[in-house]
Formats: sequence, C-alpha cells, structure tokens
Amino acid sequence: MLKKWWHNTIGYQIYPKSFQDTNGDGIGDLKGITAHLDDLVDLGINVIWICPINKSPMKDHGYDISDYEEIDSIFGCKDDLRELIQEAHKRGIKILMDLVVNHTSSEHPWFQKALEEPGGEYGKYYIIQEGKDGKEPNNWRSIFGGSAWERIKDTNLYYLHLFTKWQPDLNWENPILRQRIYNMVNRWLDLGISGFRIDAISHLKKDFTYKNLPSDGVDGFVNGFPYFSNVDGIGTFLRELQENTFKHYDAMTIGEVDEGLPADVLWEFIGENGYFSTIFDFCHSTLHVNSTEWKDKPVEMIDELKKRLFAKQNTVKGKGILCNYLENHDLSRIVERFIPTKEIDFYSKSMVGGINFFMPGIVFLYQGQTIGMMDYQKENIEEFEDPTTFIQYDEYLQNGMTKTEALAQINLKTREHARTPMQWNDGKYAGFSSTEPWFSVNPNYRQINYDLQKKNPDSLYAFYKKMISLRKSDEFQELFIYGEFTPIYETEPGIIGYERRLNDKRVLIINNAKSTEAILQVSGTIKKILLSNYKNTVLQNGIIKLHRYQLLILERV
Ligand code: GLC
Ligand code: CA
Repeated sequence: MLKKWWHNTIGYQIYPKSFQDTNGDGIGDLKGITAHLDDLVDLGINVIWICPINKSPMKDHGYDISDYEEIDSIFGCKDDLRELIQEAHKRGIKILMDLVVNHTSSEHPWFQKALEEPGGEYGKYYIIQEGKDGKEPNNWRSIFGGSAWERIKDTNLYYLHLFTKWQPDLNWENPILRQRIYNMVNRWLDLGISGFRIDAISHLKKDFTYKNLPSDGVDGFVNGFPYFSNVDGIGTFLRELQENTFKHYDAMTIGEVDEGLPADVLWEFIGENGYFSTIFDFCHSTLHVNSTEWKDKPVEMIDELKKRLFAKQNTVKGKGILCNYLENHDLSRIVERFIPTKEIDFYSKSMVGGINFFMPGIVFLYQGQTIGMMDYQKENIEEFEDPTTFIQYDEYLQNGMTKTEALAQINLKTREHARTPMQWNDGKYAGFSSTEPWFSVNPNYRQINYDLQKKNPDSLYAFYKKMISLRKSDEFQELFIYGEFTPIYETEPGIIGYERRLNDKRVLIINNAKSTEAILQVSGTIKKILLSNYKNTVLQNGIIKLHRYQLLILERV
C-alpha cells in the first residue's frame, strides 16, 4: 500500500459549541480549542476534526451553512482559525474542517434567490419540482422525519430537503454549482487546513424519477434510501470533486457514507486512488444494549458488534484504510451503548474504548470519550435543544407512544447526549464556561472530569493515553496500521479477539466484553504483556483467565 502522511492518524473530533467557551457567552469557540492544544498533545493525538464553524443560523448546529466563506461569529473569526492552525502545526497537529455540501441553510443567499425566482439561475442550484395532485412530488420521508419536500410559498413548487426543511439539498447535476463548491473548498485548503470530514456525502446523487413508493409508516411516507444514497453515478461527482480540490493538496478526507456501500464499490471510495482517504461508516451505530432488541442480551449484542466490525475489516483486507471510531456528535456515549448500566465502571469503560482501537486503519476519538463522559437523561422534553429531537418525539407520539414512552425513547438514543459541554474540572459549569452554557452540563462532572483524571495514573484518561502511545510506538506503529488482521476466538461469546501481524511480529488483542470471567487457551509463546486494564493478569501454561471486561494485549512469538 502506498504510504500517506495521514496513515498514522490518531484523530480527535471536536464539537466546537461544547468544547470550551473563552468569551463568556456560554458557547464554545475557536480560541477555546487553541487553549486546549497542549492537553491534546498530552493525550497524544495528531489530527483534529472540527464540526462545522461556518456562518449558520444553527438550526442543525452548523450543519446548515448560510455562508461558506465565513466563520460564524459565535466561534470567532478567520484570524482565530489561522491562529489555531498555526499553533496546532507547531505541536504536530493537523486541522480538518467539516465540509457540508449536500445542502445549505435555507438562509443561504443562493437559496433566498432561488425562492424569489425558482425558474432562474439560482433555482437550478437546488432541487425544485412541481407537486403532484396538490401534494409533494413524491412520498420520500426526510431522514429527520416528515416529508422530504417543502412547498415554496403558495406555488405548486416544492424543494427537496433530505434533512430538515432548513437544509435544502443542492443540485449537484448543475456544473456551475459544482465549480463554485470546488473553488470554495480550495480557498479553505489555501488558508492552511489539511483536509475535511465530508458530511452526508452518500446523498449527493438522487434518482430523478421521483417515483411514489409504497408507504412504510403511518405518516404515508417512505424511507427512500435506495433512491438517494450511493445511487449509481455518484462516483462521477466524487471523482470530479477530488480531482478539482483535495488531490492538489494531498488533503486528508473522511467521507461520511453511512451503511450500504457495497463491497465492490468500496475500493472506489477508499482504495489507493479512492475519492477519499477513508470513510466513517455506521456499522456499529445502531446497536444499543438498552434497546428493546438487545435488552438482557448484552453478550449477544457484543457478538453482533464483533460480526459487523470483523466483516468490515475482512472486506477491506489491506486494500484501503478504514477509520476506527466509536463515538461522534450524532450518537450517545459508547459506555451507555455497549455496557449494561449496572456494569459501567473503569474496567468496562477502558475495555470498550479498546474494542476496535487496534484494528487496521486509523483511529478517531470524540471529545469526552477519553474521560468516559456519559449520557445525561432528561426529565422533560423541553430540556433538549435539537429540532430533530422534537421532530422525532412528535413522530413517536404519532405512532401511538405515550409522552412518557416517547421521552424514554429519546433519552435512550438521542444524539444530543454527545453534545453536553466538555467536563474539564469540578468548578462551576465544569470549567466549560464562566456563564450558563447553551446546553446543560451533566451533573456528574464532579466525579467525571478531565483535571481529576489527568492527575490520576490509574484513570480512564491515563489508559487511553497508554493505548495511544502503544499504537504510536516506533516498535508497533506499522503493525497496527498495516499489519494483517486475523480474528481469534471468533466463536467465543462476548470475546472480541484478533491477531495483528507484520513480518515476524505478532500481537494479540483480546477484549473480554462481558461481565463474567473467561478462560482461554493462548497459542504460541507469550513474549510480553503490552497492555492490560487490570494490574494482575492470570496467564499460566498457555491458559489465560481474563477478568470481567479485561482488555489484554500480548506480544507472542
Ligand atoms: C450528518 C451530521 C449530522 C447532521 C446531518 C445533516 O449526518 O453528522 O450532525 O445533522 O449530516 O447535515
Ligand atoms: Ca464563546
């Protein structure tokens, strides 16, 4: 495999609104990121992806951009970004921005002009269609619920929005629009960023037949994914985007592709000459140990997780680079998703973080993950902030749930759990801000915070640091990025084990992802224990007795 600068990425995702406020308005900002660069160096990361910071009415917290050329004033200004890049580079850290080009904000001037004159030049920047029989052009459901179409004033015209109605989809069939996007992308690369995470990229191409499909819900709409996700022909756009932008800068790019990218096109996306450096895929994101499907079956859920993670690795097998992540700003915290509530402690938290950390590819962590931040259950639906939460809540009610049931369902899965302010210390507002933050701090910040863990050599944070330093060590870095991947103990319930091998080096990674001990036979001679989340490891005569939730990394001959 051709080696690239970004192959050794230990990435860190920042949700800027919730990372660090420096000017006392209760909202995180760019200066707040710069202020914490030394902490990120201490952790050992070398790439930061910042969620959108462009000008936005914040209906989707920045994923609705109203000016691609500007930084939103709540985050600061371009000079703050320049300073951040400069300070990050001094410390060996590269900065990635979020590129949101499937849609704009409905307040973007392009869309405003399109509304004024749907048949004019800017009307062609969006997807505008005639209604049918007084209704929407078809019955696609938006990814966030409700119709995917919104009527334009009192006309019979509708615009497509796969996400909220404040996020009209751009018309990628229009070459003028595409060129404007490429120019904009290049301007940010010229400013000094090292690449992008690219939002909702699988939706750029739509099936333009707009057929009505049999409805799959009480709302009369249908999940139209096959018609707007990785649709045939999307590659032409993605190749053109890459050739006109990223390629000239050797940029690092991570496409958000969700599920359903068939194995035979995966290479086109992440192969040596792929459209992107790597992808965020969603294979693990639907699993939740407290969902109806997996409740009381935690071990079965872990086995399903293992199946999905291994399947991904087996498809890629050295032909591309995968991105190993577990948390992001769209998911509740991993400890809540993968560990039964009564089992959550240091051991289970540290083991979970290691599940895919040593798999081939690169690694991405999310803010708060390394100190084990948890979900903050709300007692009232009003305490949430994200419009999509309310759309979802209404949908639950429409489907016959009581208010209590609907709130419980929101509390179980809402992406807003990932967005509570970062817990830096045990001071007021967890050190995130000097004033009341835009979104409530989880009251557990007195026990769970960065300062406390940084001081403690046995903390979760200290354990993440050990994982990172092992992955980055001169001795093992190449093995963890490029080495062969072979599942081990595959049929052992609740065990996620694999061997990594490069030339004559062999490392075994064994996660006992369950609440009971496991006794396993190890093959070969064990040279060394490279890492464990327990102080004592029982390893004798080729037999290991793993503690509950033990993560053990062994070098064998
Ligand atoms: C992506 C983002 C998500 C956003 C959506 C629409 O999935 O991660 O936060 O709401 O795209 O832009
Ligand atoms: Ca601020």
